[in-house]
Amino acid sequence: MPEAATGRATDSTAFDDAEVLSPEALRDLQLTRLRASLRHAYDHVPFYRAAFDRAGVRPEDCRTLGDLARFPFTVKDDLRAQYPFGMFAVPKEEVRRLHASSGTTGRPTVVGYTERDLAHWADVVARSISAAGGRPGHTIHIAYGYGLFTGGLGAHYGAERLGCTVVPASGGMTGRQVQIIQDFRPEIIMVTPSYMLTLLDEFERRGIDPRSTSLKVGIFGAEPWTEQMRREIEERFAIDAVDIYGLSEVMGPGVAQECVETKDGLHIWEDHFYPEVVDPVTGEVLPDGEHGELVFTSLTKEAMPVVRYRTRDLTRLLPGTARPAFRRMEKITGRCDDMIILRGVNLFPAQIEEIVLRTPGVAPHFQLRLTREGRMDHLTVRAEARPDAGPEARAAAVGLIARGVKEGIGVSVAVEIVDPETLERSVGKIKRIVDARPRDPA
Ligand code: DLL
Repeated sequence: MPEAATGRATDSTAFDDAEVLSPEALRDLQLTRLRASLRHAYDHVPFYRAAFDRAGVRPEDCRTLGDLARFPFTVKDDLRAQYPFGMFAVPKEEVRRLHASSGTTGRPTVVGYTERDLAHWADVVARSISAAGGRPGHTIHIAYGYGLFTGGLGAHYGAERLGCTVVPASGGMTGRQVQIIQDFRPEIIMVTPSYMLTLLDEFERRGIDPRSTSLKVGIFGAEPWTEQMRREIEERFAIDAVDIYGLSEVMGPGVAQECVETKDGLHIWEDHFYPEVVDPVTGEVLPDGEHGELVFTSLTKEAMPVVRYRTRDLTRLLPGTARPAFRRMEKITGRCDDMIILRGVNLFPAQIEEIVLRTPGVAPHFQLRLTREGRMDHLTVRAEARPDAGPEARAAAVGLIARGVKEGIGVSVAVEIVDPETLERSVGKIKRIVDARPRDPA
């Protein structure tokens, strides 16, 4: 276990041999796997066969990793249109597990895993937990939701694979979660950062100092969170907070993971998931270092291979550090879908999070409310006062946040500081944007 809250892991041994591959060996492995994966998709999924044929490419046209750019993209709507099992590349009897997205916006997307897929998934999550400082014998409290969401079960099997003791708490019943953390004394917690804040409130409500718990490391993901949020959680709990990324279409949690010794972005487990960053508008592949939309091609998946799947997540690729062969992705700054365009200015909730969290007297709870007056969209930042913030501190906070947004992002917003404990708390992925604008006629 690394020393808590110092960020210095002393024993960052790799979980498996792939992690210490040379960059050249990794590229060779990727190309071999990529060619096999494209062939598998083409031969067994009519959707991919038709898409490749339309684009005039065959799996054997992929001779270098760069050739992947000639292959067509896959988007979420493609998966929806194949609901439920049209994207599967193996007979139904070989599918051991199904997961699905919540489907709040239209039909859900379904994903499937063979036994081997599940083994790979457990491996990459075990590798992720290990990179976060987890070791065999540690107790891990998993407060990601269990069920069709990939968070709970994905984390669960990875933690078991690493040799940890798993507490499958799932989301919700916050009082009981606090009790079992006190009683079972886990070293590690895996949870969304927003639900970690809900737990924080509950510790304080019970008069328990959150810095006094057994927790040493938090592995946070499933939603965007900022460096300011990292500092807030690390200080309030006296833990190391690291980022885990993934999405159900590609696998689930464990596609990429931040290493505790560097905390400098997430190493993508590129022996299983090949990343590209493309221009979100033109689809052109961008060189490493440039910001754009993250795209993944699976390299080992059997049940549901994905080819150039557009994640809608915005980031950039950076060279490997703690795991030199594996490129990093910068912390996700936002999703194309979460971008608010306010009077011509693009704005992401994470930018507001940075400003709210550095404002004295304000708790790390906020919401963005969009309204329309006439033809103009308006944004109100609603942030919660800290319990000890009096009227003066609150008034000052209004000015600081409004000015911070105007100067940092370049747009005027209204700011409302609300009483402590009035904004809805997260039990999983938090919804930051409340869109109260009238619906456009279809
Ligand atoms: O959220 C898988 C997951 C579970 C990842 C637990 C990490 C921990 P989905 O429900 O399919 O899967 O949602 C995927 O969530 O495209 C991102 O927009 C967002 N997301 C996931 N991890 C992060 C992260 C899971 N670390 C979508 N930072 C992705 C920012 C994240 N956004």
